Amino acid sequence: MDYHDVLAAFGAGSAHPGGFKGTSFWMDRLQLKEGSQVLEVGCGTGRTACALAEKFHVKVIGIDIRQAMVEKAKKRAQMMSLDPVFILTDHLDALPFPDQTFDLVLAESVTVFNPIETLVNEYHRVLRPSGQLIDTEMAASSPLSSEILTEVQELYGATRVPTLKEWKTIYQSAGFHRVQTIISGPVREVDMQSEGHDALAVVSQEAFSKEASAIVDHNLNFMLDKGKWFQYGVFQAFQ
Ligand SMILES: C[S@@+](CC[C@H](N)C(=O)[O-])C[C@H]1O[C@@H](n2cnc3c(N)ncnc32)[C@H](O)[C@@H]1O
Repeated sequence: MDYHDVLAAFGAGSAHPGGFKGTSFWMDRLQLKEGSQVLEVGCGTGRTACALAEKFHVKVIGIDIRQAMVEKAKKRAQMMSLDPVFILTDHLDALPFPDQTFDLVLAESVTVFNPIETLVNEYHRVLRPSGQLIDTEMAASSPLSSEILTEVQELYGATRVPTLKEWKTIYQSAGFHRVQTIISGPVREVDMQSEGHDALAVVSQEAFSKEASAIVDHNLNFMLDKGKWFQYGVFQAFQ
């Protein structure tokens, strides 16, 4: 069991910095035509995907590498009588879609846990020429010491955490234009037990295991002790 499995066990609906409040902020400013094609990479339990489908009447595909996340996302869509499609994928560094398929690609706290440049190039590839990316990611407040990076790797599985400025350069190098940081702020721990008052969160038995408790404690202690080294950004970029 790792940190992401614990998030899945709690059925966390907005397991990203800024939480659902941050998601609502960019969603309120987003313009999307009815019927647009949306891809959410690392959709987790589908809270954002369902909110997008409900608000804009768009066609949403959510993909995730964790079965528990995909199952909970499907359950959420069913409970809300919405029709996003959720797919379990094993593609870590290649998106299983043709070039220029989507009007919006979305990722919330996903890219940083992957080979970053490879995945950002993939976001660019699957977007249509007028399409846009919204990506919410953890960022380092300043370059991190090797001790902190080791702990980040042990706890979250990320081998590297770019600064806000480095994130922008990464999107630009992949070919994105008009790259903006539309929100930034301090990172606080994800409170998995009361996460954003998500009424449709489905909690599994494993959430109450000793192993899960130890990971929750490790995360809380890490954030209390080292949280000042981290911030987050919500980036908007155009194909
Ligand atoms: C921190 S959680 C965030 C989940 C969701 N975006 C949210 O905000 O609640 C990261 C999620 O990304 C998924 N993930 C990580 N790398 C992925 C990849 N390359 N493709 C698809 N899903 C991925 C994990 O399984 C996990 O569900």
